[in-house]
Amino acid sequence: MRAEALQAWWHWAQGIIPAAERKSGLRELKQFLSAFTELSPLEIALRRFPPQIRLQLPLAELQERWQRRWQERVPLQYLIGTVHWHDLELVVTPAVLIPRPETEELLEVVAATVPPGQQRGHWLDLGTGSGAIAIGLTRLFPSALVHAVDCSPAALEVAQENIQKYALGDRLRCYLGSWFDPLAPLQGQVQGIVSNPPYIPTELVTTLQPEVRYHEPRLALDGGADGLQAIRQIVERAPAYLQPQGWLFMELMATQGQAVAALARATQAYGRVEILKDLSGHDRFLVAQNL
Ligand SMILES: C[S@@+](CC[C@H](N)C(=O)[O-])C[C@H]1O[C@@H](n2cnc3c(N)ncnc32)[C@H](O)[C@@H]1O
Repeated sequence: MRAEALQAWWHWAQGIIPAAERKSGLRELKQFLSAFTELSPLEIALRRFPPQIRLQLPLAELQERWQRRWQERVPLQYLIGTVHWHDLELVVTPAVLIPRPETEELLEVVAATVPPGQQRGHWLDLGTGSGAIAIGLTRLFPSALVHAVDCSPAALEVAQENIQKYALGDRLRCYLGSWFDPLAPLQGQVQGIVSNPPYIPTELVTTLQPEVRYHEPRLALDGGADGLQAIRQIVERAPAYLQPQGWLFMELMATQGQAVAALARATQAYGRVEILKDLSGHDRFLVAQNL
């Protein structure tokens, strides 16, 4: 494509960004163009294009995708097909939640909490989605065997693609099923569990921004009437799977900290139960250790 044509496309593309979202929309436009060309961020920022630009998609397709961003509020990451998360570039489709910065923090909490002697053995990622946590864990703990579970076959296909991309197939296995169901042989043997389960109360799902509400999988968001349906199951069933002193790390909604701590204490199975805050100062993570 010639530089003049791309300039004209840029002019059109920035023109359809809603006025109220101009700043973030322009940032997204740069990311969008960078994903489908070999232009450097500087060339895009200054709009100083070389005479010929190679597009990885036909122009009509590029145009249609950018239109869907604003007309249908499709998240940018689904339009590009990848997301940068932690130190990874993961494939994402509408079958999986787009991994969030809070979940990067969850992985940091795991890394900072688990002593080196326990960074091995069997680790679980329950509700793996794109495989983000499982892949992060497998790379973080080079002696661990990681088991990633999801009840969505379409999500597991995406996770498998990401696992292959990082060539982790020998230490990271995927299982189709509900929470612990496919993992019965691991009872009493698990060193740690990390999970970002669906935790939004059903009533709140319809109040979320359209990008989330209409495009991210309901199965990844909806935590039942009180938002705690999945969390409750995991907190209550985990002790049967964990070794003595085994770990449970879970991401929560900001308002759920006290309720989840109470759920964990009520099992009388954990010696340590803590709620940690995220970088914004909100209660966000459960850290529990089996007796
Ligand atoms: C909030 S998303 C988390 C995805 C990914 N771990 C992340 O942090 O980006 C929750 C995931 O749990 C899965 N899920 C929902 N119910 C489940 C169940 N009963 N058993 C296993 N996975 C389930 C969903 O399909 C979804 O992939």
